[in-house]
Amino acid sequence: MIKLTDLVHQYSSLRATPYPFAIDMTAGRGLDTKYLASTHHQVLSLDIQPLAIQSTKELLQIHNIHNVTLLLADHSTFDYSKFPQIDTVIYNLGYLPGGDKTIRTSAHSTILSLQLVLPRCNIGSNIFITLYPKENNDEANEVLRFCQRLDGRLYDVIKISVVNKELAPFILQITKIL
Ligand SMILES: C[S@@+](CC[C@H](N)C(=O)[O-])C[C@H]1O[C@@H](n2cnc3c(N)ncnc32)[C@H](O)[C@@H]1O
Repeated sequence: MIKLTDLVHQYSSLRATPYPFAIDMTAGRGLDTKYLASTHHQVLSLDIQPLAIQSTKELLQIHNIHNVTLLLADHSTFDYSKFPQIDTVIYNLGYLPGGDKTIRTSAHSTILSLQLVLPRCNIGSNIFITLYPKENNDEANEVLRFCQRLDGRLYDVIKISVVNKELAPFILQITKIL
């Protein structure tokens, strides 16, 4: 099966020179943060779980990565105004792999955070959201509906999905065009 996280990494780094600023909205085990740190000058990485923060911190230390601000914070209430305008955002929704499955993202918190960050994104910036309908179909549908209603004059939204597998994970890529 195609690894959607690898696809997100490829799509998020199409430019030859590093982008200035990215946010990982769900640090988890730190794999997306580590990748963003290799393709951006500065990265902000958030998670609501101390275990995820610790895990990401260890991964960054092992790889000698120093351009990440890692914070225990809820992406739906965070004050983004102290950080630069954004070039790339990654949401990998769901629960911490190998962690407590009851602590997980929700459509509500994802949509609230999108409402906070979209106005802070540069033209040409990309937001990648990986959704898992098999684990939470309501969350996937609600976030998809929100993205479908975004103003087409300001944003392009692409859905990248595996069409021959039922309830397969999919990616939404929002590109700010104006
Ligand atoms: C699927 S994991 C992320 C995987 C991660 N990107 C990686 O590369 O390992 C989802 C993470 O979202 C976090 N999370 C859930 N709700 C959140 C919220 N409101 N704000 C920030 N993080 C949240 C969970 O604690 C969990 O660690």
